[in-house]
Amino acid sequence: MKHLAVFASGNGSNAENIASFFSQHPSIRCSCFVTNNPNAFVVQRAKKLNLDCLIFNKEQFYNGIEIVEELKKRNIDFIVLAGFLLRIPQTLIQAFPDKIVNIHPALLPKFGGKGMYGDKVHQVVIKAGETQSGISIHFVNENYDEGKIIFQAVCPIENNETAETLASKIHALEYKFFPQIIEKVVLGL
Ligand code: GRF
Repeated sequence: MKHLAVFASGNGSNAENIASFFSQHPSIRCSCFVTNNPNAFVVQRAKKLNLDCLIFNKEQFYNGIEIVEELKKRNIDFIVLAGFLLRIPQTLIQAFPDKIVNIHPALLPKFGGKGMYGDKVHQVVIKAGETQSGISIHFVNENYDEGKIIFQAVCPIENNETAETLASKIHALEYKFFPQIIEKVVLGL
């Protein structure tokens, strides 16, 4: 059985979607959520799903040692970032080489990097006059949104598109594709 840890800093709808997708899976299980924000709704989602939720503050997170120990204690094989806002420290990347993936709500390499999340990234994409946006699932390295891209899916941007309408199209792509891509990568397919 491969064990996933899903990291989220906020709402956690992707984290819940992933945990549900793998709840009956024969060889992959979501073992815990991880967050840097004790007030994040993802903590409530973990309770509802009867899942452990590890809560670390920024200092604990950036030295990385404590979190690596906690994850190894839980036999975590793979880390999924789903709306996680802190940069991943080297200690974590070295402990999980090519075993950390992230989802970004835009078509990298454009529209990535620090601060590009939530409605902000959708506003920037619309303002740039793009005719489409989408999701990018990529391996994680020590810089924001720069690892090797594994998968992208696109959606059109209409004339009257708002950040809100685009966000809901992007979320629909995330819920549809992220669990499938995680499954493929974890199983080496
Ligand atoms: C998603 O749009 C994801 O692409 C981005 O952060 C958002 C997280 O949303 N990285 P949620 O917390 O999963 O609802």
